[in-house]
Amino acid sequence: MNQTKIPPQELPRYGAERLSGIRCLSTQIKQETPKESTLTAMAIQRLDALVMINIDESGFERRGGGVTGYVKAVYLAHLMPTPELELEKNLSGTEGILPFSWYLSEPMTLESLANQDFEELVDNLESEFSREFVAQEVDSRLDRVLVVGLMTDGSTLQTFEDSLAEITRLVDTAGGVVLQTVRQKRSRPHPQTVVGEGKVAEIALTAQTLGANLLVFNLDLSPGQVRNLEQQVGIRVVDRTEVILDIFAQRAQSRAGKLQVELAQLAYMLPRLTGRGQAMSRLGGGIGTRGPGETKLETERRAISSRIARLQKEVDQLQSHRSRLRQRRQHQEVPTIALVGYTNAGKSTLLNTLTNAEVYTADQLFATLDPTTRRLVIPDPLTDELQEILVTDTVGFIHQLPPALVNSFRATLEEVTEADGLIHLVDLSHPAWQSHIRSVMKILAEMPTAPGPILLVFNKIDQVSAEHLLVAREEFPQAFYISASQRLGLETLRQKLGQLVHYAIN
Ligand code: GTP
Repeated sequence: MNQTKIPPQELPRYGAERLSGIRCLSTQIKQETPKESTLTAMAIQRLDALVMINIDESGFERRGGGVTGYVKAVYLAHLMPTPELELEKNLSGTEGILPFSWYLSEPMTLESLANQDFEELVDNLESEFSREFVAQEVDSRLDRVLVVGLMTDGSTLQTFEDSLAEITRLVDTAGGVVLQTVRQKRSRPHPQTVVGEGKVAEIALTAQTLGANLLVFNLDLSPGQVRNLEQQVGIRVVDRTEVILDIFAQRAQSRAGKLQVELAQLAYMLPRLTGRGQAMSRLGGGIGTRGPGETKLETERRAISSRIARLQKEVDQLQSHRSRLRQRRQHQEVPTIALVGYTNAGKSTLLNTLTNAEVYTADQLFATLDPTTRRLVIPDPLTDELQEILVTDTVGFIHQLPPALVNSFRATLEEVTEADGLIHLVDLSHPAWQSHIRSVMKILAEMPTAPGPILLVFNKIDQVSAEHLLVAREEFPQAFYISASQRLGLETLRQKLGQLVHYAIN
């Protein structure tokens, strides 16, 4: 049964509420009741039905390589939707419970099997399945995603859960719907398949059942792991970096931004192009397939490599152009402040409310990709005269920014170190705000040029309790506490920016 696996894309029918359209007949000489693994294989393939015929060992004889004998027992198995009540019970408890079970008949005779109306059986089962799956329907333009979280030795339960929350939001931002999350704890990723063998089967089964078309992992995978998983599970597999790249691809506006994204995508995908079946073609659309270079991805590796070289040159040229622009700005002696922070901290909102500029904000990660600079008028702390400064919004930071992205987005990040000072904005309402601070500081510390003075500003104080605020104030007494959207604390912040600029340039 396991050996005769048909790739899901080649099944006559595929979908959460459909059976595959295939009935399987198997014979076995040993007198055995059907094994659980056989039934699991049936479920993964979503067979219409499975019939197992046991041949009587004592009475058989070999003829021309074949075997004849007496039919001892016949078993009929098929899938069954799990009753709603049971499902609710299961879902509120553990995760990964499948919305079906299987039916296995008692040993029966060939005659009674012959009387079974399979058309009717399948019709009835499918209409039951479709009733069960109404709640799982999602917009057809969105990817139906199964998230797989691997918790390894290096992570705590908290960091693991944070990484799952993050990948879920990334998928959401990229335009996918997370149908379910499968978790596994292993000391380290399985070299071939990331998760263990049994888990791969469970994932395949769950993906089939839910009608998922994309598997997203909370970590980065090797090209080999992606290939193996795609072969075994039968749907596209993307890792964390690819989801981030996809978001960048959708959001890039400027020439420089688009070039950088294409460069990063090509470099990341080049080793991953070989060995992926036609069914895994990156041209089909969806998360991990978009981007300015998407039509190039399936062309020859050599062509891609030379395109990478050309793009790199263009990016370098654009960078030197931009650094000339920055020099001019410095020449004009207008102080600049860069806004940095973990993604979704509220940087665009703050820039908007501070400067009344129209920068695109959305409750999605990476709403801003290209640096956006706005003018702001603030009082000089010594003379009290009004002075002009420039505030630059930057791309949001994320935990463990993949190295490929750090490089390709260095133009964006360079804004940070070339600014006279920084506002480090933190979403205080986010449960992981402390680790957000740490990861931003870590990346800033790794920048080639040391950044100027940093003003720590906590945002979204309208969303936190008084006790929560107190804890933060005790830990960070020097910091500023604001709500960008509710315009709380902005006037004090403007005053403080005056001091920051004064301190930075004198
Ligand atoms: P990226 O571009 O992804 O890096 O995000 P960003 O840091 O620019 O965040 P953005 O300004 O897009 O804001 C993210 C979300 O937070 C939006 O839905 C804002 O409306 C919301 N937000 C911003 N400031 C506040 C605030 O003070 N209070 C509350 N409750 N929400 C806020």
